[in-house]
Amino acid sequence: MDLITPLQLSHLEPIAQGAQKLVFRHPEDPRVLVKVINPRFIERHDRRDTFYKKRRRIGHHRAFAREMIEHLVSRALHPGRLAPCPHIQNILGVVDTDMGAALLVEAVLDENGDLAPTLQDLLETGRYGEREQQALETFFDWALASNVLINDLSTDNLARHPDGHFVMIDGLGDRAGIPIRAVSPWFNRLYKRKKIRQLREEIESLRQCD
Ligand SMILES: Nc1ncnc2c1ncn2[C@@H]1O[C@H](COP(=O)(O)OP(=O)(O)OP(=O)(O)O)[C@@H](O)[C@H]1O
Ligand SMILES: [Mg+2]
Repeated sequence: MDLITPLQLSHLEPIAQGAQKLVFRHPEDPRVLVKVINPRFIERHDRRDTFYKKRRRIGHHRAFAREMIEHLVSRALHPGRLAPCPHIQNILGVVDTDMGAALLVEAVLDENGDLAPTLQDLLETGRYGEREQQALETFFDWALASNVLINDLSTDNLARHPDGHFVMIDGLGDRAGIPIRAVSPWFNRLYKRKKIRQLREEIESLRQCD
């Protein structure tokens, strides 16, 4: 894979998108996704953001920095050793594209090589059963035991790996101005407990709509 020549993405159709990013398949390797900040998001925020936010050196790439820091945090307990974390998206690097700097990540794919379903997809299509519930409990146990920071534990930020386990593909890190959770494991766990409680409530209400 050529990692040096800037990628040309603007003529391609994104395979997925959220509120902030456009997600493309890497043109040379379907197991890799390329995430860029959506130009519409940039435009909207450039109009609305306060003077203080505009002065941030990292600008709109703040979301990438948050994800990358937590990627490294998850490996920091085992320095100098192979230490992948099955519960968070694997980050492969940063590359230049004609749509700005992009994050290269490993795609969570299903058995057919398509993007794996998110928890939201599973809930919407009646595929959230006993097995998925158990896998989510395992994910929660990991999240509470780990020192990784989580800010957006929403149903579309969790993808179901074909092995059955859930992978967080977005929403890591700390958005707070004062990074209390980064220095206090107690506050971190308390906050994650709240996020887990909110997700449980959301799942319950979505299941009642069935
Ligand atoms: N590593 C991945 N493997 C499989 N699918 C992924 C992966 N990363 C992202 N996706 C898909 O792309 C969608 C959007 O990606 P992502 O959540 O990173 O964008 P976003 O704009 O930051 O989202 P949000 O609306 O939560 O801010 C996800 O909901 C998911 O469907
Ligand atoms: Mg998302």
